[in-house]
Amino acid sequence: MTRTFDLEVNGVAYPLTIDPGRSLLSVLRGEIGLTGTKEGCDDCECGACMVLIDGQPVNSCSLLAAQAEGRSVTTIEGIIDGDRLSEIQAGLLDEGGVQCGFCTPGMIISATALFARNPDPTPDEIRVGLSGNLCRCTGYGRIIEALAVDGVGRADRPAESGS
Ligand code: FES
Ligand code: FES
Repeated sequence: MTRTFDLEVNGVAYPLTIDPGRSLLSVLRGEIGLTGTKEGCDDCECGACMVLIDGQPVNSCSLLAAQAEGRSVTTIEGIIDGDRLSEIQAGLLDEGGVQCGFCTPGMIISATALFARNPDPTPDEIRVGLSGNLCRCTGYGRIIEALAVDGVGRADRPAESGS
């Protein structure tokens, strides 16, 4: 049995005909080709698969794609600001908050949601905001420090310099 519906991702409507039991993560990566969203635990533990749904961070491994019908999904590919890194992306890059990068898309999604509701979070508020995201590389210190830098909002960095 399949189900046919449109899924809105990063402002684009993708027509899908899929097994209704498939996760949003599986569909984003396998059907739509947006592989910036990472698969870590596939068990709602690590945050590597985080996306925004109607602006709220959600582990896409924990949601059926069909449950996102009629909602607005934003992946890491939709975070970039035109040809510029987002303020958060540039901040992490500048301050050494990226190592292997596997956790980075999910971290950026969570940080984007955090800064949207609290533009000037304290380090403790950042820790809470990222508490659903695991990193095996940095030990979190550089990530928290990067996001706590005043004006993490340096927006004007060309996208091709890395993300
Ligand atoms: S892959 Fe979804 S939380 Fe780990
Ligand atoms: S930078 Fe490697 S898992 Fe976080």
